[in-house]
Order: sequence, then structure tokens, then C-alpha cells
Amino acid sequence: MASYAYDQEWKDERERLAGIERLWDSGSHALLDRLGVSSGWRCIEVGAGAGSMVEWLSDKVGPSGSVTAVDVSTRFLEAIDKPNVQVLRQDVLDEDLPTGFELVYGRLVVEHLGKPALERMVAAAAPGGLVVLEDYDWAAADVFPPDPLFQRVLDAVTGFMERAGYDRFFGRRIFSELRAAGLEDVQAEARARVIQGGTPETVFYRLSLESLRDPIVASGALTGTEVDEALRRIDDPATTYVSPLMVCAWGRKRP
Ligand SMILES: C[S@@+](CC[C@H](N)C(=O)[O-])C[C@H]1O[C@@H](n2cnc3c(N)ncnc32)[C@H](O)[C@@H]1O
Repeated sequence: MASYAYDQEWKDERERLAGIERLWDSGSHALLDRLGVSSGWRCIEVGAGAGSMVEWLSDKVGPSGSVTAVDVSTRFLEAIDKPNVQVLRQDVLDEDLPTGFELVYGRLVVEHLGKPALERMVAAAAPGGLVVLEDYDWAAADVFPPDPLFQRVLDAVTGFMERAGYDRFFGRRIFSELRAAGLEDVQAEARARVIQGGTPETVFYRLSLESLRDPIVASGALTGTEVDEALRRIDDPATTYVSPLMVCAWGRKRP
């Protein structure tokens, strides 16, 4: 069975997760707004990480709604102090989720855990409820000016995660996976970020590589010197990164 490749206890994990939020939250807000998430909805976020989407959903659904925040590591979520938020420490691969939600949401989680996580998320939706997934497809990820070291780092990082069960091309599969899971009215779209090296937007890249540095060097995919050089280039303002595609797909459970 697949597992999550990152160490949730790593010293800079909170900042790494904040880097994900900085890149993607505004687009996720726009998507969920467009899908009608509003006052009174019962929501669950699976793999809620550092919790910025939980806090946003909490404000969106207000006191008549609720947000259940699930993660296998809840140390950052426990800091959220909102009366309509419940935090559940749970491994979605081990146990069924609570049920009856109008929104079931997961970002950058199912790409690590695969179909068993997706099936549990679909089961958590109320009849007629929305399931919304956002996951990467790394095909578009690139750098300018062209840099062969970037491609080697990309292969080393995604290759390491793949050995734990990650799918670097899950983004393009979400649409068919949601239909195969029995959802109706399935739709999908994608967005990407174009970002400058050395800015807050590239913190996620730098910290993800730093977090995986030891196992990647131990595997022989890159030397320590190559990792240092890649980290230096990530901080170079002359470099432009095209992010992976963030593919968003959603569908409704049959009423
Ligand atoms: C890449 S982070 C994404 C965090 C957040 N969804 C976001 O986009 O900002 C993946 C999250 O999934 C959680 N996770 C990994 N495996 C899990 C599992 N088996 N059950 C529940 N949560 C899991 C991790 O602890 C982490 O917080």
C-alpha cells in the first residue's frame, strides 16, 4: 500500500506546508467559491496539513456549518481555535471517515495515497455531496533558462516519492478516477504558477528538496554537492520556474 514520503516531524515542515498554501490557496478559494460552498455546509478536508484551507472553510460556512479537519499528523491543526472546526487525527488508509458531508475536499493527498484514500473520501460524502480533489501533474514543471540539473532533481524527488507509491502524473488521472468511483457530473480543470527563484513562492521547492535531501543522497540519485547547487539555483532571482499543473476535479455523489 502507498505511504506518504515526507516526514511530518521535520523541523521546517510547518514552513514547507505554508509554502504549498502560499502557492495554491487563492486558486482553491476561487474554485470552492465557484462550486457554491457557503453558509451552513458540512465540510471535511482530508490531509489538511497546516490548515489554511480549514480556516478559510470555517469562515465560509459560518456558525451553522462545520469543518472536520483530518490528518495523520494534527500538530499544526490543533492550533486552530474555531468553534465550528473539529480536528481528527486519523490515517485515511486505516479507517473509514465520518460520513454525511456536503463537501469532501483533499489537496495534494490522494496523489500520495491512491485509490483506497479516494474511495474513503467518496464514501464520506452525503448523497448529492461534492467531492473535490486537487493534485499535481508534473509533466508541465520546467525551468527557464533550461537547466539539466533541474530535470535530475525533479526525477530524484519524484522518483523517491514514487518508491513510496506516489504518482507524479496523478493529475491527469483524477477525472477518470472520480468517474470510476461512481460520481456524477465530473468536471476538471488545471492551473499553474510561474514563479521567480528566491521569492516566497519558491520556498516550497527549496524546503521539499531539503526535507528529502538525506534519503535522496543515500539512494545515489544526486550527490550532496548537486543538492547544494540545486538549492543555490532555486534561490537565484534570474531563474523562472513553471510549477507542476494543479489539476482540480470534482463530482457529485448520486442523490
Ligand atoms: C502535501 S501535504 C498537503 C497539505 C494540505 N492539503 C495542503 O494542500 O496545504 C499532505 C498532507 O496529507 C497528510 N497525510 C499523509 N498521509 C495521510 C494519511 N494516510 N491519512 C491522513 N492524512 C495523511 C500529511 O500529513 C500532510 O499533512
